[in-house]
Amino acid sequence: MSLGHEQARVDRNLALELVRVTEAAALASARMVGRGDKEGADQAAVDAMRHVLESVSMDGMVVIGEGEKDEAPMLYNGEQIGDGSPPKVDIAVDPLEGTRLTALGMPSAISVIALAERGTMFNPGPIVYMEKIAGGPEIADLLDLDRPLPETLGLIAERKKIDIRDVMVVMLDRERHQEAMEQVREAGARVRLIIDGDVSAALLAVSDNSPVDILWGIGGTPEGVITAAAIKCIGGELKGRLWPRNDEERQAALDAGYDLSKTLSCDELVRSEDVFFSATGVTDGDVLQGVRYQGDRGATTESLVMRSRSGTVRRVSARHDRTKLRTLTGVRYG
Ligand code: FBP
Repeated sequence: MSLGHEQARVDRNLALELVRVTEAAALASARMVGRGDKEGADQAAVDAMRHVLESVSMDGMVVIGEGEKDEAPMLYNGEQIGDGSPPKVDIAVDPLEGTRLTALGMPSAISVIALAERGTMFNPGPIVYMEKIAGGPEIADLLDLDRPLPETLGLIAERKKIDIRDVMVVMLDRERHQEAMEQVREAGARVRLIIDGDVSAALLAVSDNSPVDILWGIGGTPEGVITAAAIKCIGGELKGRLWPRNDEERQAALDAGYDLSKTLSCDELVRSEDVFFSATGVTDGDVLQGVRYQGDRGATTESLVMRSRSGTVRRVSARHDRTKLRTLTGVRYG
């Protein structure tokens, strides 16, 4: 395992540079909160993220990005980022995780980026969705996609020495989750439904003293890889399995050599012990406070900044002068 430059590995915590990247994306998209314009909010985040990312010295390749090159002018899968100097890294971005949440002014939209050694991030290929189960370190070994969910909830209650009625499962509010939701309720446990944003929901599930015990459900594969990167830093586990939407997708995945029966752990989704992660809140959520404006030029952000090798988890609160930032960078910070 090598980032290609010994000094870079020892001394540099890239996450501390990445926080500027997610802050910029959050500040830029926050102006679009509640404006009913998902695409506009996403575009603002992408533009700002790309701009600041250019200032990070690295030899980066986007593995999880905004899609294929012809649909995404920036941060497309395969795009080279940085000045080409070490370290060589894979990059996963979701400039705005929760585009609809932002457009509707709803909680828990975040901007997020993860970096790991080159060649170590799982490439989702043609598979859009993944079944996921995630929880904190205390219950990591109990997370199993093959065991019926009610049984797993029983084991979690036993392990945490709580009543099953206290167990809380967070899941995306989707038709495809109807049966599982009924099973959870029949087992006596509780459900917290979210309309979007399973990265921040997973972060909540693995956090200390969380009101949520596990995240369960079928969500984006790229979001699964990003979540795995976060969990490698903060602790806990995510188990994922690719979930093709139709026969065509199934065949495309099989042709590309994907094993659809395999359950992937965090260590398989991100096969590196050198992972850097930063997320900044766009709208207020359980995990991160969103962007708040102060006066006519100030703004505050809150970010989670982490590195797997040291295990350091930082919460970075920042006060920004939007006018000065704009003069410095040319980016519109809200
Ligand atoms: P976007 O903000 O990129 O639209 O993603 C939001 C999200 O809710 C993810 O958190 C989740 O993994 C995925 O979409 C679920 O997909 P779908 O909305 O198609 O069920």
